[in-house]
Amino acid sequence: MRTSFIPGELWPDDHGVHINAHGGGILQHNGSYYWYGEHKIEGTAGNSAQVGVHVYVSDDLYNWRDGGIALDIRDNRVPELPTGCVLERPKVLRSRTTGQFVMHFHFESDKRYDDAAIGFAVADHPLGPFVFHHVQRPVPGHWPVNTPPELKDSESIKQAKEIYAQGGKAIRAHANDANLLGACIERGQESRDMGVFVDDDGTAYQVYSSEMNSTTHIAELTPDLLGYTGRFCRIFVKRFMEAPCIFKRHGKYYFIGSGCTGWKPNAARSAVAESLFGPWEELGNPACDEDGDTTYRSQSTFVLPLANDQYIFMADRWTPENAIDGRYLWLPIQFADDRPLIHAPAEWRLKL
Ligand code: DGJ
Repeated sequence: MRTSFIPGELWPDDHGVHINAHGGGILQHNGSYYWYGEHKIEGTAGNSAQVGVHVYVSDDLYNWRDGGIALDIRDNRVPELPTGCVLERPKVLRSRTTGQFVMHFHFESDKRYDDAAIGFAVADHPLGPFVFHHVQRPVPGHWPVNTPPELKDSESIKQAKEIYAQGGKAIRAHANDANLLGACIERGQESRDMGVFVDDDGTAYQVYSSEMNSTTHIAELTPDLLGYTGRFCRIFVKRFMEAPCIFKRHGKYYFIGSGCTGWKPNAARSAVAESLFGPWEELGNPACDEDGDTTYRSQSTFVLPLANDQYIFMADRWTPENAIDGRYLWLPIQFADDRPLIHAPAEWRLKL
């Protein structure tokens, strides 16, 4: 039995096997915790999805039972999610209207990362099996609530569509200057790294890196969690962030994410807002101990709010040369003058 967190070490499940749930997130349901994440295999082949999404169950957050593969994409059994696709950062929420468990994940049909889409899968039980529902880009047909008027300019949209038609390389080269938002109104906005957030009123949102990772969006979901209401906003314009996580504390909204350096770690970002759709104020890197400039060699994936004003920063220490060996850093978030701080203790416990 484990009675503490040991960040960055191997973390065995109830079979003694290192937990295989990378880029993960936690669902709390009926007094249990469900940890969903990318199941990785050995070697560099593990950097794309060969198996699917693994789920683990716990009552205390330290000890995890293997719940098996919640979303299985082996042997091309889900034609829309071919084995070897990119399926990252799965997050599960329960719909308050349908009662179904809905998994959201970043989907790419291949490693060019040009689909920039979100996949949806549904299940009647948190352990699954999750059944593929659909893949789409967020909020097609809508402009964000805080659109700068110049982005509705038809000439800049036309120019951006021409860049877009040339494909990923050209789009990447123009991430800073083209009107990628305007170019994507009909098809839907790009979405790569993503997370989910549920507000106190039960309304759920996706937060995702968009516009070739230059700008973050927050999009409101329909109550069944399978589509968008059309309400969304842009935040951190041209700040190039990934790995977005949102949580709420004492009525304020907090954001923790990363910069964009692929599998290599970088300094985390943080921000605070009085209202979810902004304005957001950046607060800098919350990782404040030695190695904080690489977020202790890790990248955020989820923030888990708990009783007693406790928040766990969940992060991945990626090992792309042998993907299955990736480690997990779960660290307590502290607050100094309402600013989040993440220290790096070698071992720590929750306050009960
Ligand atoms: C960084 C992202 O945060 C990961 O989820 C993954 O997409 C890698 N980039 C791929 O290079």
